Amino acid sequence: MARETVIVLDFGGQYNQLIARRVRECNVYCEVHPYNIGLSRIREMNPKGIIFTGGPNSVYGEGAVVCEKEIFDLGIPILGICYGSQLMAHLLGGKVTTAPVSEYGKTEVEIDDHASLFAGVSDKTICWMSHTDYIEKAPADFTVTAHTQACPVAAMECRERGLYAVQFHPEVMHTVEGMTMLRNFVINICGCAGDWKMDSFVETTIQAIRDKVGKGKVLCALSGGVDSSVAAVLLAKAVGRQLTCVFVDHGLLRKNEGDEVEAVFGPDGPYDLNFIRVNAQERFYQKLAGVTEPEQKRKIIGEEFIRVFEEEAKKIGAVDFLVQGTIYPDVIESGLGKSAVIKSHHNVGGLPDHVDFKEIIEPLRMLFKDEVRKAGLELGIPEYLVFRQPFPGPGLGIRIIGEVTAEKVRIVQDADYIYREEIANAGVDKGLGQYFAALTNMRSVGVMGDERTYDYAVALRAVCTSDFMTADCAQIPWDVLSKVANRIVNEVKGVNRVLYDCTSKPPATIEFE
Ligand code: XMP
Repeated sequence: MARETVIVLDFGGQYNQLIARRVRECNVYCEVHPYNIGLSRIREMNPKGIIFTGGPNSVYGEGAVVCEKEIFDLGIPILGICYGSQLMAHLLGGKVTTAPVSEYGKTEVEIDDHASLFAGVSDKTICWMSHTDYIEKAPADFTVTAHTQACPVAAMECRERGLYAVQFHPEVMHTVEGMTMLRNFVINICGCAGDWKMDSFVETTIQAIRDKVGKGKVLCALSGGVDSSVAAVLLAKAVGRQLTCVFVDHGLLRKNEGDEVEAVFGPDGPYDLNFIRVNAQERFYQKLAGVTEPEQKRKIIGEEFIRVFEEEAKKIGAVDFLVQGTIYPDVIESGLGKSAVIKSHHNVGGLPDHVDFKEIIEPLRMLFKDEVRKAGLELGIPEYLVFRQPFPGPGLGIRIIGEVTAEKVRIVQDADYIYREEIANAGVDKGLGQYFAALTNMRSVGVMGDERTYDYAVALRAVCTSDFMTADCAQIPWDVLSKVANRIVNEVKGVNRVLYDCTSKPPATIEFE
């Protein structure tokens, strides 16, 4: 590795990628590797610093995950976090035991030494603790640099050897001055220049893709969403015409969306790639005819999507690689495994086992959404694509309650278009996680021009959320809502009533189905 790199050794903690992300926020390149990657590989990588993550084990318990002790003699600065700090203490002759009082949550930490890791940090600072074991006694050549009421060694260091340890988690937001500590480590202690940027990620990833793909053929399922678009452009830049993007228009996209995606990725767009748009609307509408149950709709849309995709893959023939736009939160969510299925998310990124590919390429696997957006901007993808709100794989199919028909799709597309237009005109889209119109299955009596109407009610939804697992109903200004309602009933045939959804998630969900 010629560029400055810090590596994170993963001991099974929850925040491993978050640590890497925080280091990247210091403009230092960072990768996560398994704890047992081995000294020779670490030497080859020649990192400027190493960070040990937390983990669920006890250093003295059976099945403790341990690295080679010689790692401390490499002359590379090491920061141990939580389990990582205990491991450092344990391997170097300190004492780790079960803490008489476990600390969990925001805890006041008193800094005893500001000379190095804690330079610029307040004397008393709130940190996030989450531990049942603790370091009772630091190894002989270490100095204790912080403590709490319950924890005699909240931090320790041996500056001569470049070894640092903190019991708390500097990487989480609840540790108020955590970024200062991490910056002290990577910039001051490891001596990184901090000149890495997302464009370096783009460059190196393009090179890595070229090395991997060689002369092979690559296929990408493009939805027009941020993740698959960024993945596609990375691939296009790396291997050009060896890439084919298949964009399936299932007739459940937002108004004009198919054409917008084609304008960017199609033959008149800026990228040199093979682009196939499959207009499969009729096919999807036929399969969905008469189906009202949300999960069944999802399954039909997902399944049909795969069928269309497979047919196209067969036509192209001998495809070696499949590109997926998986990003880091997808990796965590799919890893959870045991939670109840509320909705079976069909993501066009999560494509088949069904088609035979030699390998799957997931260039965005280690990035968070906002990092993907940064990479997208670096790649020159238009801002309106990069900053799009999320759109579910089954599209309007789950925003039309009950049976899906072409007519209902037209209604919800037009209503949604007006809603989005007025939100943009009023400039109130900042801070909104997602906002859209849905078509309820309710018809009600109205009166228009002295005539009785019996038409559909459109529901408007807007939520503020950062993780999409929970969401608050957004307070859209009344004048904006009333303008939207007015325009929808006047301009969208078949609608005579507009409702605003004021529920949060939970107990509701963001989408209607
Ligand atoms: P819910 O409705 O579960 O939505 O609160 C949370 C987030 O997930 C999106 N969503 C989906 N995305 N396939 C997807 O790819 C789906 O079936 C699906 N259902 C919901 C939703 O738009 C929101 O961002």
